[in-house]
Amino acid sequence: MNRPGIKDVAKLAGVSVGTVSNVINNVPTVTPERIERVNAAIAQVGYVRNAAAKTLRRGVASAVGVLVLDLNNPFFMEAAEGVTDCLSQTESFMLLASTQASVEKEAELLTLLESHAVRGVLLSPAGASLAAAEEIVQRGTPVVLFDSIATPPTMSSVSVDDASGAALAMQHLLGLGHRRIAFLNGPEDVHQSQQRKRGVDTAIARWSGKEAQLITHNLDSYTIRAGAAGMTKLLAEQHPRPTAIFCANDLIAIGASMTAREQGLRIPDDLSIVGFDDIALASQLSVPLTTVHQPMFQLGWRAANLLLEGAIVRHETFSPELRVRRSTAPPS
Ligand code: RIB
Repeated sequence: MNRPGIKDVAKLAGVSVGTVSNVINNVPTVTPERIERVNAAIAQVGYVRNAAAKTLRRGVASAVGVLVLDLNNPFFMEAAEGVTDCLSQTESFMLLASTQASVEKEAELLTLLESHAVRGVLLSPAGASLAAAEEIVQRGTPVVLFDSIATPPTMSSVSVDDASGAALAMQHLLGLGHRRIAFLNGPEDVHQSQQRKRGVDTAIARWSGKEAQLITHNLDSYTIRAGAAGMTKLLAEQHPRPTAIFCANDLIAIGASMTAREQGLRIPDDLSIVGFDDIALASQLSVPLTTVHQPMFQLGWRAANLLLEGAIVRHETFSPELRVRRSTAPPS
């Protein structure tokens, strides 16, 4: 059954299609009597304005695409809240999708969003290459990177200073007296992983105290599952085991903590653990997690606002803060 269209409304109201369009678009020249007749006809036939048709016909883009690495990661949900809040001040709305940390999936979704004439795209890149994003920018669909510093001069970006955040975590553990520290990092081709590793290395290099040993593992994803598997591998291979673990995000830290407890280790008595993000769950855990706080809501809000502002390319970097809780202590 075809959906009732603007012609059905005009016929029932006894007015022209143009008058119906003027009523729908609140053109002030329409008489109150005609507005009443048209609105009654709209209700009676059940007409719904086709925004997508309007977008295609007039190119009035009202959707903003948001591509994240993992919809199961609370970091991205909190950032998406910020995007939504910013877009709520306009007629725009968010189209949220996950690239599942796949560069191929990212390219497919970028092209799909472009074909739907979105106003622009907020992208957390799945890998080092921004070629696919660059292509849609060149064809007129703006892209703002969030959770990553933009390298091309054609895209704005918003991110936390990942390297200084990682350095804060390591300085905290070194300051507690840990000298054999493991770093469970995300996939090495993800921008955040590279920056967090840089911060870890900087902290170790600048440590003036007693020699510290660093063991680094790159996991296949920023997930609880990967954290648990990475911790199992670490405890199997490293003897003596490390006394502290810095995890590249809170989900990895939760997975690593689960494995540590299963293997009889107490946190923090036997093993200190630090995360990164400060998702809401971090402070609610049975042993509240020491972690690096990044302003997720503001990251999303600012990325959306940079897109809405358009024109000038800008890069905004937020400062991280260490939230010390009960998952870290001096080595026993
Ligand atoms: O997507 C993986 C991680 O990168 C998130 O947990 C958050 O830390 C982001 O910066």
